[in-house]
Amino acid sequence: MYGLIHCALRDHVAFQYGEDLIAEVLDTAGVTEEHFVVMQAYDDEITLGLIGAACEVLKVDPDELLVAFGKFWVLDTAVKYYGPVMSFAGRTLEKFLGNLDLMHEQVAATFTNLRQPSFEILPSDGPNIELIYKSERDGLTEFVRGLLLGLGEHFQQEVAVSISGLKSEGEPHDIFLIELKDDQSRSGS
Ligand code: HEM
Repeated sequence: MYGLIHCALRDHVAFQYGEDLIAEVLDTAGVTEEHFVVMQAYDDEITLGLIGAACEVLKVDPDELLVAFGKFWVLDTAVKYYGPVMSFAGRTLEKFLGNLDLMHEQVAATFTNLRQPSFEILPSDGPNIELIYKSERDGLTEFVRGLLLGLGEHFQQEVAVSISGLKSEGEPHDIFLIELKDDQSRSGS
């Protein structure tokens, strides 16, 4: 994945666990400063190796790290460096989720080797949102859970996120159920 993701993960580790552990994480993953060029695309193995090394050094369960990193990505990285892109994608959680593909397409204008995920909202009459997450990658389900929780906070919308289908259990894609704790967000533009 792009170095942008590596940089964000490094920032997350520094912010959450302290700057002094970064060197050990990099060492364990066998990566150097060369693997932190924002606009460069790296093999997914390097990205996954970095995540694995962070879990090992910090003694954190991978799912826990991925959820926390997903939240950090939205609430820190995306807001700090891609504020305008985030704003244009929608003013409510539901509108934003519906525009995620467009948003990544916009991002792909600069990240030209982007292998972007795709999201689809399933039709529903009720207040909850069912979201299909399509990706050529595996193992990022909990990262997406964290992203969705982060988006809830970003839009000041209380949400509960559960999983109603898993690719790892034979479904064609992961499916998330996002429960909106109050229904106000649906009335915005
Ligand atoms: C404006 C902010 C954002 C930017 C600049 C951005 C950019 C990127 C980049 C560069 C990648 C790496 C893909 C690759 O290297 O091939 C990526 C992956 C990903 N992004 Fe975004 N993204 C943004 C916001 C979001 C948000 C809000 C979500 C929420 C669902 C999201 C979901 C994902 C997922 C799940 C992946 C992992 C790739 C996969 O599943 O195959 N992104 N994004």
